[in-house]
Amino acid sequence: MIIGIPKEIKNNEYRVATTPDGVNQFVKSGHRVLIEKNAGVGSGYSDEDYIKVGAIISTAEEVYKSSDIIYKVKEILPPEYKYMREDLIIFTYLHSNANREMTEVLLKEKVIGISYEDIEDGKGGFPLLKPMSELAGKGGFIAALNYAQSINGGSGILLARVHGVKTPLVTIIGAGAAGIGAAELASSFGNKVSLLDIDLNRLEEAKYKLPPNVELLYSDRGNLEKCLRESDAIINCLLWPKTRKDHLIYADDLKLMKKGAVISDVSCDEGGAIETCKATSHDNPIYKHTGIVHYAVDNIPSAFSRTATTSLSNVTLPFALSIAANGVDNALINNDSLRKGLSFYKGNLTLKETSIKLDLPYTSPEEVLNIV
Ligand SMILES: NC(=O)c1ccc[n+]([C@@H]2O[C@H](COP(=O)([O-])OP(=O)(O)OC[C@H]3O[C@@H](n4cnc5c(N)ncnc54)[C@H](O)[C@@H]3O)[C@@H](O)[C@H]2O)c1
Repeated sequence: MIIGIPKEIKNNEYRVATTPDGVNQFVKSGHRVLIEKNAGVGSGYSDEDYIKVGAIISTAEEVYKSSDIIYKVKEILPPEYKYMREDLIIFTYLHSNANREMTEVLLKEKVIGISYEDIEDGKGGFPLLKPMSELAGKGGFIAALNYAQSINGGSGILLARVHGVKTPLVTIIGAGAAGIGAAELASSFGNKVSLLDIDLNRLEEAKYKLPPNVELLYSDRGNLEKCLRESDAIINCLLWPKTRKDHLIYADDLKLMKKGAVISDVSCDEGGAIETCKATSHDNPIYKHTGIVHYAVDNIPSAFSRTATTSLSNVTLPFALSIAANGVDNALINNDSLRKGLSFYKGNLTLKETSIKLDLPYTSPEEVLNIV
């Protein structure tokens, strides 16, 4: 098969689908790889690095026109719509439920679209989301460390243990992949850390992963209020259901917080757990509300593009290699995890969540693949 790797065009997106090592695996398995000029530069890989392992450097047009599989990172953006065509396989983060226009284009052009974020591990986990959540959580702590500094508008607290000085308190809400990532860094800097979750199993697992300076608290209003009053930084890493209209932290709650404290909202859902959250960008990452610095960048991993590219490629590559080796239909039929990610199949919408959200007709992956 011919695998095409375009350069990402989304603002501030520096990741690329795979590393030269990843390309090497396709080439060694007998496939051809076309990669757009400078696609890896944002992650520190030159065209020469890819040429050395057998890739062919191409234009965007050539990559899209000549490839069987488009292997990328972000969703399809308007300048890329013109490249969509029947039977083209797109393997990337698609987020179709949040993007009606793209969804309609992919349906109309009859592409086969498999979304990273919907691939499941069979135990209710999302293995292609997890590594990026971990990086986002770690980045969320680094942002708090940064914006607590007086030179960046913070109260001038160093989020670390310093002898002779009261140890800062960092509260992390949610003990999933992002929360554990944040807690790992916050605790290793010597901070007192409170990690809150409503799932006691998650908290128990965290007990074995994290050092004793991390207190593991059930997430109820009493514990949350105490954390709001005492924390120097709050890092929000929970998954708030999109259908909920209430909040965990209301605008009024900010008055309970210490002057100059930071909220780093990794979850970054507007109108979600934190009422005052509005998404920001790497270009303009913070704003203040009631004197509290808010950081709510919605693509934190892109700041760590080299690490993120490697980490993402580690989890996507086995699926991409399987599609190339077996053909997309066989790969989907024989792998339940991959099939969960099938969102578009030759004019059919095969992702239930998107069909509900966008009120479009749904056909199951099993139906389109004739699995009885
Ligand atoms: N900003 C970014 O760049 C970026 C990147 C990746 C992920 N994210 C976001 O990070 C968030 C966390 O992702 P994840 O993969 O760690 O999710 P996850 O599902 O693994 O973990 C979420 C945790 O929140 C807990 N939780 C739910 N309700 C709670 C409550 N009321 N109080 C305390 N805990 C509660 C859950 O029990 C779970 O343990 C998601 O919203 C995701 O979209 C953001």
